[in-house]
Formats: sequence, structure tokens, C-alpha cells
Amino acid sequence: MSISIKNQSEINKMRIAGKLAAEVLEMIAPHVVPGVTTNELDQICHDYIVNQQQAIPAPLNYRGFPKSICTSINQTICHGIPSDKKLKKGDIINIDITVIKDEYHGDTSKMFCVGPVAPFAKRLVDITQKSLFLGIDQIRPGATLGDIGHAIQKFAESNRYSIVQEFCGHGIGKNFHEDPHVMHFGKPGEGEVLEEGMIFTIEPMLNIGKRHMKVLKDGWTAVTKDRSLSAQWEHTILVTPEGYEILTLRQEEK
Ligand code: MF3
Ligand code: CO
Ligand code: CO
Repeated sequence: MSISIKNQSEINKMRIAGKLAAEVLEMIAPHVVPGVTTNELDQICHDYIVNQQQAIPAPLNYRGFPKSICTSINQTICHGIPSDKKLKKGDIINIDITVIKDEYHGDTSKMFCVGPVAPFAKRLVDITQKSLFLGIDQIRPGATLGDIGHAIQKFAESNRYSIVQEFCGHGIGKNFHEDPHVMHFGKPGEGEVLEEGMIFTIEPMLNIGKRHMKVLKDGWTAVTKDRSLSAQWEHTILVTPEGYEILTLRQEEK
């Protein structure tokens, strides 16, 4: 396997898919409130993607995943399955959206705080977001995947958080998950060298407690073994001649 270099026409399609994924997160924001169920959030996103965007929610039936989005609350690290459970004040939740438009994927996630949350929870959410952007800032032709992982690891660990190792960022295009694996830890100068035209996600998962995880009996939901809080943020990024372009950037980030 090797890392594909996208041509101009593929890049244009990835820009569109990325923008649509970002717009789903913008659309859902006002619905993420105490009392709403994650099934309701799933239904709203599904209908928006299918009817408004005329796109496909990539998670639905992906390797047997039963819903259109992932909703990961509190100690859930990732791949939480929407259910009839209601959000409550103080919860932190990651919503992960992947859409397919014109055969190409856009993949992005963000954390939402439900009502006011405890300062230790807010700090985890903010540091995790910052670690994503420090990783992104490493991207330019000639840099390596190890540079990205190292930037994330250094910042996370200096803030006394642990980094989940079982899941990583990934190349993306016509396939949901392609080469390379983008680790959220590593050593500067190690790993694949980045080239213009590569497109991949970075999606660090940071825990307040230990890094270890387990998958629940549903076969999907990954939770922290020690039940400590976990947070994740994700963008899809293109390597450009000068550095990078975030394909899933939201208005609030511009
Ligand atoms: N969107 C996730 C990622 O960032 C993958 C979810 S797979 C699913 O790679 F099947 F759970 F949807
Ligand atoms: Co991803
Ligand atoms: Co994702």
C-alpha cells in the first residue's frame, strides 16, 4: 500500500466533501442541548446529509456500523453509537461526521459542551483542540508524519493527558480509510515524508486518566478503561506547496 497523491479534479471533489461535512457540524450545533437524545441528533444529521446535501452518510452500514454519525459522550473515546440516551448538563460529546459526495469523503469531528461543564472537562476539550492545530501546523511538503505525532504528543503530555494509541488519523479519498496511518505520537523526522497532494485526517483522542481503552459488547463503542473523560477533534487536511489547507474548516474557525 502507498499514499495516493490527489490530482486537481480529486482535490476539488475533496474540497466539496470536506465543506459539506463541516456544514453538518455547524447545522447540528444548536440542537446539542440538555434533553436531546443522540438518536435525534443522528436523525437530524442523516436527513440533512441525504435531503439537503444530496450526499451519503459514510458511517451508515460501514463495516456494520448501524447509524449515520458517531456520538461519543464523556468516557467514550470514539465510535459511540447514537441511542435513546438523553444528553444532560455537564456532558461533553464528540460528534463525528463523514459524508460522501461525488464518490469522495470528508471527515471531521468536534466536541460540544452540553450546558455549563466542569472546568476540568472544559480544559480537556480545549487542550485536545489545540493539540489538533499544533499537529496541523507541522504540515508542509518535506515534513514527516512523526513531526505531526510529536507535536501532538509533546503538548498533550505536557498538559498531563494521555493519548489513545489504538486509533489514528488516516488517508482519505474515494476510500473512508486509506494509507497512511497518522499516529498522534511520534518522533520528529520519522515516518513518511509529506508531499503536495496528500490528503489525510488528524484526529487526536486525549484522556484525563490512563490511555488504555476497551470496546463495549456492541463491537464499536470505545471507552476509557479507567472511565476517565476523553475528548477528540478531527479535520481533513490537504498538503499544499506552501503548507496545508484544512478542507473541513468551519466558519467559527476562520
Ligand atoms: N469517522 C471515524 C473516523 O474518523 C470513523 C467512524 S467508523 C464508523 O475515522 F463506522 F464508526 F462510522
Ligand atoms: Co477519520
Ligand atoms: Co471521523
